[in-house]
Amino acid sequence: MDKFVITGGTPLQGEIAISGSKNSALPALAGALLTDKPVTLKRIPRVRDIRTMQRLLVDIGAKVEAQGETFQLHTARIVCPEAPYELVKTMRASSLVLGPLVARSGRARVSLPGGCAIGSRPINLHIFGLEQLGASIHQSHGYIEAEAPDGLRGAVIDFDRITVTGTEDLMMAAVLAKGETILRNAAREPEVVDLAELLARMGAQIEGAGTSTIRIQGVELLGGAEHTIIPDRIEAGTFAIGAAITNGDLTITGCQPDHVGALVSKLQLAGVDVTQPGPNSLRVRGAGRLRSVDMTTEEYPGFATDLQAQYMALMTQAEGIAIITETIFENRFMHAQELVRMGANIRLDGKQAIVAGPRELTGAGVIASDLRASASLVLAALMARGETVIDRVYHIDRGYEKIEAKLARVGAKIRRVE
Ligand code: EPZ
Repeated sequence: MDKFVITGGTPLQGEIAISGSKNSALPALAGALLTDKPVTLKRIPRVRDIRTMQRLLVDIGAKVEAQGETFQLHTARIVCPEAPYELVKTMRASSLVLGPLVARSGRARVSLPGGCAIGSRPINLHIFGLEQLGASIHQSHGYIEAEAPDGLRGAVIDFDRITVTGTEDLMMAAVLAKGETILRNAAREPEVVDLAELLARMGAQIEGAGTSTIRIQGVELLGGAEHTIIPDRIEAGTFAIGAAITNGDLTITGCQPDHVGALVSKLQLAGVDVTQPGPNSLRVRGAGRLRSVDMTTEEYPGFATDLQAQYMALMTQAEGIAIITETIFENRFMHAQELVRMGANIRLDGKQAIVAGPRELTGAGVIASDLRASASLVLAALMARGETVIDRVYHIDRGYEKIEAKLARVGAKIRRVE
């Protein structure tokens, strides 16, 4: 298993480029199953979750040709409408094929995800939505089997809580359903909007993506399309916090600044200098001293849960007490104990982490427990005194493209050891 060895203390300086969004690319790849025509997707990040999705699509019957960041997908026929346990257990987003498979072939068999490091993460809302669209659902041997031999029919689906991949999955199911579907209390994340744009290019009729009510008029068939994935807002946010925590000066290029608005507001309140030199760039400069600022995770446009761990690392360096409240997942504080091993003062109380700072962090051996927890430890290590060894960095490889190479180019002392 690979490790990162990081020697802290060097401010990040220079320019760092953002890759395509993992969480946008995953549903887009699943969306290509909706047509028997070729779909070209550009700016796909080369990360492990994408390779997992690629394997899944090939097993289902897609031909996938990947050249750098451009993927060409062609699913002339669905050969096996199934997402097996081996893949779903390593990547929950595999359940994104459920909607497209039922819509295209009238049948899907998808493993139920088991437990997860950050919370229970069920897919009951995906299943509820498919039932509303007329699919019959059976559960056995750890699998969900959905059938709609005569096709899906439009319905009103009221989500009782906001779900990102649930919204995406049902949007993909509804585009080929007969009649109108209305998704209420839908997720408003930029990744949902990006998927709606791809589907529209394929011929789908979707209105309201990016708001809580999405209206879809089903069509009989979808065609091929070419689409470029949006920049990864979580990668951009991670590097912005990296600049702030190392007291550096980083220009983050190829990003969409309005997608990280909630983070930018918190950084500015904490005393970090954030400017927008161009429409697709952000400049983040550390200001020497940081102030503690409370933060609560929320659905978009609120503060992203996927940046909570990184923000906690930053608050260990801020003056005062920051209360961080996690409202999306019930167990997303695994990084806190590792940060404490490095010297942080963090107390956990249910949904809240109380961070008192500033505390000097010193390098230590730590273990990455999930993707964003790993990112938080990398950021803490970049500012800590001495050497930190982060074990299990395969978690970070799931969602950050060449993170050590990108960080090394802006001054980080980071190397991967096998
Ligand atoms: C997406 O996961 C992201 N993954 C996650 O990114 C992200 O943390 C999360 O949204 C929240 O923003 C992808 O886009 C591939 P949810 P998703 O359904 O869709 C509960 C990362 O680090 N819920 O919006 O699986 C659920 O348990 C990751 O890149 C149900 O109860 O998250 C959670 O508490 C990890 N029933 C809440 O809703 C359901 O059927 C929000 O989850 C579905 C969800």
